[in-house]
Order: sequence, then structure tokens, then C-alpha cells
Amino acid sequence: MQIHTNKDLSSLNTLQLRSQAEHFAELHSEQDVRDILNDSSLRKLSWNILGGGSNLVLPSTVRGLVLKVANQGRELIGEDHEAWYVKVQAGEVWHDFVQWTLQQGYWGLENLSLIPGTAGAAPIQNIGAYGVEVKDTLWEVSCLDLQSGENKVFSNKECHFAYRDSFFKQEGAGRYLVWNMTFRLPKKNVLHLEYGDIRKELERQQLVAEPRTIANAVIHIRQSKLPDPKVIGNAGSFFKNPIVSKDMRDTLLQSHTDLVSFPYQNTQFKLAAGWLIDRAGWKGKKLGPVGMYEKQALVLVNHGGASADDVWKLANQVSLDVKNAFGVEIEPEPIRW
Ligand code: EPU
Repeated sequence: MQIHTNKDLSSLNTLQLRSQAEHFAELHSEQDVRDILNDSSLRKLSWNILGGGSNLVLPSTVRGLVLKVANQGRELIGEDHEAWYVKVQAGEVWHDFVQWTLQQGYWGLENLSLIPGTAGAAPIQNIGAYGVEVKDTLWEVSCLDLQSGENKVFSNKECHFAYRDSFFKQEGAGRYLVWNMTFRLPKKNVLHLEYGDIRKELERQQLVAEPRTIANAVIHIRQSKLPDPKVIGNAGSFFKNPIVSKDMRDTLLQSHTDLVSFPYQNTQFKLAAGWLIDRAGWKGKKLGPVGMYEKQALVLVNHGGASADDVWKLANQVSLDVKNAFGVEIEPEPIRW
């Protein structure tokens, strides 16, 4: 395993921020991880784990050691009359894995097509789209404990999944390296069409709802609304949809009759942050080299040459304007290194 110094990370983060890692290595095998753990000079450094770099805001210099998870592999490891058990290694590209499951005839992940990033990042923030989250079918996550070097398996329950959150983003951050995971994909075909424009898109294309056509509809909808990170730097949704009380939502509805909200866990409501940012006047607006995307106000885009400071300056201004306009706090989704 090679340790690189002053490694350029610009092409390894989808916001395309200019950034350099003091030290950098790729992890292809468990042995690579153990070699690093056994090296006393590397052990002294601070470590940061990199997947697809699609949910990160990187500083111009990342101190210490950046470890890029690069293990590959996906396979059916079991099957009973109720479900398929499919295992994927953390370094696989998430979208490629989802398309592979569909080609093999295993369904359940179709709504999560075209989400950027690696499979290993999926459980960390419990990725979700169009009414489906990773937590719905994740069976277990196998990690390497970066303190002891041992393997540790977490059941779905032990991952403490919540909206864009998990144990790995909270208490487990920095200690457990997600190494592979197994999905339990039920054979009973439950299709999720109720969220977003999926049904409309299928009708437009005159297609019958089935996993493959849903995946294609999702791909089409995402491509029409979300910027391709290869073309324009972005990290997907930059803010989480805020969760508020019913009272708060009712009060807001009185003054903003077109407010977009969805019931959340019986007593609360999730507000569409994209709508709030849009109505606060930020859709398609720029601040320096960054801006909020013209077709989806929730996505912060890098028009070229931006630094982390530019990103946070805009993010703070947008949050402040939303707070002043609606009295609601919005919280960034990407992780800050
Ligand atoms: N809206 C506006 N103006 C905008 C953007 C959105 O008025 O500029 C309104 C829309 O009209 C819609 C509502 O806000 O009524 C919600 O928008 P959308 O359906 O596009 O979904 P979202 O809440 O903005 C979430 C996820 C996305 C996921 C989509 C589809 C979060 C933070 N974001 O976005 O996830 O793809 O739903 O399920 O939960 C991501 O996390 O990176 C991501 C892209």
C-alpha cells in the first residue's frame, strides 16, 4: 500500500473544492487497514475516511491521513422464500450496485438510483429518496474498529438510523470504518410510487410500474432537477428538511398557504427546505463563486474555484435569511472536515 503526500483531492469531492491531503492512501483490503494500524507513525496522525466525496465540505488542506475506501465486490450471499440477502463492499459505487441488483432481478433499491457516492457512505447518513431509505432494507453493517483493528457487525437496530443520520455519523464517528453491508431485499414486491413525480413520470412514458421502470423514472427525474457533479460541483441537497411541531407548521400555513410540508412521526411535520430557500429568494442566486441551483434551491453549487469558506459564507447567509423569513432553522447535510 502506497502512502501519498500532498495529494490533490479536487477530483475526489463532488463539490470540486480545491483541497489537498497531507497524507493519503487507498484501502483495498482489510490487511491495508491493519498495516496502517500497525504503523506507529501513521497511527499518530489524525484520520479522515473518504468514500465518494459527495457529502463533504473539504478545507484547502486536510491535516493528517485521508483514507479512501476502495474495496470492491457485490454478491448474493443467501436466499430464502421471503428474501434475497445481498452483500456489497464499501468502496463500490452506490448507483452501480443498485443497477446490478436490478439486473440480477433483486428489487427494493430502485428508488435509490443515481444517488451519488459509494455504498459505504449509504448507511452513514441513511441515504434516502422518493419515499425509501437505506434503513428500510439494510440487514447488517460490518465495520473495522479503528481502535482495536477487529471486525464488528452492527444489526439494523444498532445503527440507530434516523432521517439522514445514524450511529456512524454520531457516537461511532471516527472509530468504525464501514467495510461492507448486507441488504435483505424482500421478494414480496412493494413499490413506492407515492412520493415525488414517479407516478407522473411513468404515466408520461406510458410504462407499467415495476422495479426497472421505477429506476428509470427516478434516474430521469433526478437528471432533470439535480446538477451532474461532473459538470457543476455540488453535494446534492445541502440542507436537511427541517422538522417542526404541528403548531409551528399551522402558524406558517396561515401566512404561506402554499407551504410544502409532510407529516413526520405522528406529531411533527417535515418542511421542504428547498421551498423555504426558494421563497427566501435564493433560488438561482449567487454569492461569490457559489450559489443555490437554479432548478432546485436546496442544492448548493460551485460555479468554479470555490473554497470551503465560500461555501460556509453562503450556507450561513441562506440559513439566516430562512430564519428571518420563516423563523425556522435549517441545518447543513454535508459533513465538515
Ligand atoms: N421546492 C421548491 N423550490 C425548490 C425546490 C423544491 O418549491 O427550489 C419544493 C418542491 O416543489 C417540492 C418540495 O419542495 O414540493 C420538495 O422538493 P423535492 O421533491 O425536490 O425533494 P426535496 O425535499 O427537496 C428530498 C431529499 C433528496 C431526495 C428528494 C427526493 C433531503 C434533504 N433531500 O429533497 O435527497 O432526492 O427528496 O426524494 O431530504 C440528497 O439528500 O442529496 C438528496 C438529493
